[in-house]
Amino acid sequence: MAKLNQTNTGNPSKKKIKFQTVRGMRDILPDEQTYWEKIRKAVRKIAFDYNYGRIDTPMVETVDLFERTTGKDTDVVEKEMYKFETQSGKKVSLRPEGTPSIVRAYIEHGMRTKPSPVKLFYMGPMFRHDRPQKGRYRQFSQFGFEAIGEQDPILDAQIIQTALRIFSSIGINKIDLQINSIGCKECRPNYNKLLVSYLKNRKQSLCMNCKNRLKTNPLRILDCKEEKCTQVVEQAPQSVDHLCPDCKKHFTYLLECLDELAIAYSINPHLVRGLDYYTKTVFEFWASDDKEGRIALGGGGRYDYLIEKLGGKKTPAVGFAAGMDRLVDAMKEKGIKGAKTSKPKVFLAQLGDLAKMKSLSIFQGLEKAGITVAESFGRGNLKAQLKKADQLGVDLVLIMGQRESLDETVIIKDMTGGNQEVVTLKKVVVEVKKKLEKIKKEVRVK
Ligand code: HAM
Repeated sequence: MAKLNQTNTGNPSKKKIKFQTVRGMRDILPDEQTYWEKIRKAVRKIAFDYNYGRIDTPMVETVDLFERTTGKDTDVVEKEMYKFETQSGKKVSLRPEGTPSIVRAYIEHGMRTKPSPVKLFYMGPMFRHDRPQKGRYRQFSQFGFEAIGEQDPILDAQIIQTALRIFSSIGINKIDLQINSIGCKECRPNYNKLLVSYLKNRKQSLCMNCKNRLKTNPLRILDCKEEKCTQVVEQAPQSVDHLCPDCKKHFTYLLECLDELAIAYSINPHLVRGLDYYTKTVFEFWASDDKEGRIALGGGGRYDYLIEKLGGKKTPAVGFAAGMDRLVDAMKEKGIKGAKTSKPKVFLAQLGDLAKMKSLSIFQGLEKAGITVAESFGRGNLKAQLKKADQLGVDLVLIMGQRESLDETVIIKDMTGGNQEVVTLKKVVVEVKKKLEKIKKEVRVK
């Protein structure tokens, strides 16, 4: 429900009600859209280049889907998920992330029969009821890439390459890639035992959350941000030292691929990620020149058991997602410009009701011909309209006054050379095109 600000006006019966966005949620205004468009364009381009097909899934899914995949005991599901009951009593939630929905869709639509790997990408809003702060919103947007059906570590390398290509094509080049391997069903249980026995001996030094995690999710203690836990974890056994031969081979080959691609990385033995489904590879992208530090731009990893867990056949997979809001913030901080918008070349000015009415069809004719037109239909004053045309720096102004509207003509004023010409309404699109072409040529010659 929207937050209401009630302002006391002095009169108790006339309280002013001011509606505002819900805490942790934001409006993205027209001025900001260029940043978003730049990201969306880069995502679409790289997705096309790397053969990913777009998929859109609903924002609402069953609660059960996330409990089984992201994990019942994870912060994302346990503490942050928006849950509600539908009118028919079904328990649903606003999606906190995209991967579970993609896996559900993969199984539901029998994508297994398609050539492997099935490569899917998505963009859209996610919802997490966390404490809002800079870079952390309750509604935020992610783009994500998932490659389903391949075991080969080359896919892990390629997915990392894909993410880095997107970051660099929006101007974010300094990325700190952190990577780790958390093993598989074969080696993780042994490692878990070692870790738990190490941590149990130091239980008193852990925070309350981590004391509970000892039973539910000991791996997560490794990336707890509490000072006392980080100290304990410092000397803890590391998963990379306890990998089975298969996981070791996978990780080594992946690192070799990254070396081959000249992608810099650092192995972070405490990186485990906050979601339950990962096996083998996990990674995160951080802005390396981020002064305030603690904001990940994206992350991902391998999830070789997830499809099976949701009732599909045993199918390996790997993917990542990035936070678009955080990328926009990073672009602004670094002074990176948004997407270029096409500037109008023509301004349409009119005077009087009849002229205004006729201008509508001129506007449509030009727009259909692919010519961007600015106008200010709301303003009656010709002087004000011409001032706006001047501010916009258009090449041509079309003026339709009362006389022209009766004559079915329009004045075309060339703002680059100063001359003007009267043309009939029928010819206006052709004439405007010709003049714009001429101006373009003259600019090229200069
Ligand atoms: P995640 O690390 O939970 O992974 O989220 C990915 C990115 O979403 C984060 O690195 C961050 O940039 C952004 N993000 C997360 N929460 C917020 C928030 N509250 N406000 C703003 N941005 C946020 C996943 O979601 C996995 N599904 C990634 C994945 C795909 N793994 C495999 N495939």
